[in-house]
Amino acid sequence: MKILVVDDEDVTLSSMKRLLRWQGIKDVEICDSGKEAIRRIKSGDYDIVLLDLLMPEVDGIQVLEATKPFKPYTEFIIITAVDVLSQAVKAIRLGAYDYLVKPVDNDHLMRTLDRAFERRGLLAGMNVARQARDARQPDGFSEIVTESPQMRSLLSYAQIMAKGGNPVLITGESGTGKELLARGIHREGPSPGGPFVAVNISSIPETLFESQFFGHVKGAFTGALRDYEGFFEQADGGTLFLDEIGEFPHQMQSKLLRVLEEKSFARLGETKPIRVDVRIISATNKDLDKACQEGKFRLDLMYRLKSAHIHLSPLRERKDDIPVLAAHFLKLSTEKYRKDVHGFSPEAMDILLRRDYPGNVRELAQIVENAVLLADSATIMPRHLGEEIASPPLFTRSLCSLKENYETHVLYVLNHTHGDRKQTAQILGITVRQLQRKLVEMRRNPRWRLLLGDL
Ligand SMILES: Nc1ncnc2c1ncn2[C@@H]1O[C@H](COP(=O)(O)OP(=O)(O)OP(=O)(O)O)[C@@H](O)[C@H]1O
Ligand SMILES: [Mg+2]
Repeated sequence: MKILVVDDEDVTLSSMKRLLRWQGIKDVEICDSGKEAIRRIKSGDYDIVLLDLLMPEVDGIQVLEATKPFKPYTEFIIITAVDVLSQAVKAIRLGAYDYLVKPVDNDHLMRTLDRAFERRGLLAGMNVARQARDARQPDGFSEIVTESPQMRSLLSYAQIMAKGGNPVLITGESGTGKELLARGIHREGPSPGGPFVAVNISSIPETLFESQFFGHVKGAFTGALRDYEGFFEQADGGTLFLDEIGEFPHQMQSKLLRVLEEKSFARLGETKPIRVDVRIISATNKDLDKACQEGKFRLDLMYRLKSAHIHLSPLRERKDDIPVLAAHFLKLSTEKYRKDVHGFSPEAMDILLRRDYPGNVRELAQIVENAVLLADSATIMPRHLGEEIASPPLFTRSLCSLKENYETHVLYVLNHTHGDRKQTAQILGITVRQLQRKLVEMRRNPRWRLLLGDL
């Protein structure tokens, strides 16, 4: 939380700074003139500006007028020596968040700061949501949300390849959006109105492969009670999506290759060839080249499937997508659960940005959905991200000090009580005063500060 305090009286400035620091807010700057304040607010990135109204030369109202239009997400809290209600009302009309009357009551100030900060997160979150909307592609890729230049150029390439109708191989770790992209390529391809048949290769028992893919006629084998249309026929005039292609049984690979080349095959129990027009998109999270080297996958088949190759990078390598994706999933989840959650607090977003996501986009989607379910405020806070994500495990198994374990435990209980100081102190068996002192100490450590967030 970055705060600028603007006041013409040095005494006020220094006492305010001390007060904020004492509350654990370290990033506090001070400024003793309206003119200088305008310059700094315009060029800086303050979360909150505490602004004195009565100042010589340029007063608080003028500062607000000159800067708020440029910094819509910076919240202004007016602090004024005399209770001049008309001025305060004017300031609020100009976009100030609230006003406080000097001498400022500490608790009141902290509560107002908390609320302003929450609102700031909320507004910033809405802005991200707007960007997410704008970032959608105007075409068959409309469901793919991205902001990263790397993904955008990949999508332009995919769009060109889609038009050609040739087989496309999509590689990438689990949850990177391979199936989503495959559906996009289908829609951008020559027959967007045709069927899209998705088949997960690893889910088909090896003995049923032939009949599942190529179909059979009644009586072709024991148990073939009626004619059956295989995947190739089902996908005729559209796309057959072969997910986890690396699992394709070796002895079936030559047959698949032949069908791809001849575009015709016969149902089991029949000799009459059936011609199909099917586009093949395959996907894998395994290394197909390696499988080829090891003799598990036919090289000629791989080249056939790979007339275009698109690799989706893991989310941790395109972190600029995290805010838009998070906003996208937030919107989906709030609609699903009819909850009024508008954005992420900067601390929560910070935690999301730092994560490595072994499960990639799917994992992020799940985290956001759970956070929406847990949310009890208008913005997602670190505590809604789940203990495992927002805070370290209860007792660290590493050889850490007692102090660290103590602090971890304080955080754990505080999370549990949603920041209730009295209840937390009671559970911990210490006084509220001792707890406050501990929290101030913990907030000096950037790691705890981040994890504590608005708690
Ligand atoms: N760029 C994106 N924009 C919006 N949603 C996305 C994006 N990427 C992935 N998703 C969503 O994340 C989830 C996982 O994506 P998808 O199923 O396409 O991944 P995958 O690569 O096929 O994973 P797996 O290898 O596990 O099958 C889906 O719900 C998908 O809609
Ligand atoms: Mg998939």
